[in-house]
Amino acid sequence: MIYETSETKIVPATREWIASAAEIIKSGGLVAFPTETVYGLGANALDGGAVGKIFKAKGRPQDNPLILHVSGIRDAMKYAEVNESAEAMMHAFWPGPLTIVMFSTASADTDCQVPSVTRANLGTVALRAPLHPVAISLIESTGFPIAAPSANRSGRPSPTTAQAVADDLGDAVDLILDGGPTKIGVESTVVDATRGSVAILRPGGVTEEMLGKVVDLFEGDEGDIAHRSPGTRHRHYAPDIPLFLWDGEERDSFVRVLGVRWCYMGLREPPSDLDTSHRKAIFSSVDEYARELFTKLREFESCGGEIIIAELPDGRNIGGAVRNRLMRAAGS
Ligand code: TXA
Ligand code: MG
Repeated sequence: MIYETSETKIVPATREWIASAAEIIKSGGLVAFPTETVYGLGANALDGGAVGKIFKAKGRPQDNPLILHVSGIRDAMKYAEVNESAEAMMHAFWPGPLTIVMFSTASADTDCQVPSVTRANLGTVALRAPLHPVAISLIESTGFPIAAPSANRSGRPSPTTAQAVADDLGDAVDLILDGGPTKIGVESTVVDATRGSVAILRPGGVTEEMLGKVVDLFEGDEGDIAHRSPGTRHRHYAPDIPLFLWDGEERDSFVRVLGVRWCYMGLREPPSDLDTSHRKAIFSSVDEYARELFTKLREFESCGGEIIIAELPDGRNIGGAVRNRLMRAAGS
């Protein structure tokens, strides 16, 4: 096949290449594809062997379960016990950047059983219906739910371009469908709908305020949420050079890096008298910050910079997700 001989496995996401990608997934291979959030590394979620390759390619800890990408509510019902609040959220936010954790179906029909490797041995499954024509077309052409984590090496910033996938995973993936840069730039919101009230496990584009209009939200302590969310146990999103966070006010952050080659990103300019930045990205909105965040982390680490300083935006709208990713990337 052509994709095996081409130097790079990046191909345009045309109808023909999506059909080839579907064949690869049906035969147990790995395909990276764009979604509206970030690029995913996809395999047939019902094939334990294929899913095992995802963990190996990423170097992902086995105790961190994967999201199943499905076409919609009817599809979801095959794999999960969809309760009232889950269904309300699906109606309100699917297709879109919302992943819902539900109990896995104990169906007698073994074709619909999600293998334990996909679920990391949990009794629950995480499902999402992406809002991207390439992702939708891939799900529809394979006929399987597609298990897909973000297509980065484990612990690295998530990829928002096909090239970032190739940089991280290169040989480990059979094909990379290039659909251009992703629109949202940070991963989906993950919610737990297995209890009476819904808990946000990972903030994303569907915000607390939006969810609160549709379901009762859990107001618990962070310890309980971390307990339910395997992904939060591991270091994540970290660039190869140190990342420092700036609150947008104090000057110390910039005084400390005098004489060092530092790169900066944020909504505000650094203090003008201390601005010796090597590279700088100023965003005009928090949406743009979210869209560019992972791209800039990757760009800055490879541009000769020694340190990255990033402004922490306030938590409104997608700012909550940006703060969450920045704090985890900085290891704080
Ligand atoms: O936007 C996204 O969600 C992207 C695109 C590709 O869809 N995917 C993504 O996958 O970010 P990943 O694997 O990088 O993050 C999935 C998160 C992890 O934090 C994982 O622990 C959590 O979802 N998760 C998956 N299944 C779960 C479950 N059964 N219970 C609790 N958390 C779960
Ligand atoms: Mg990830």
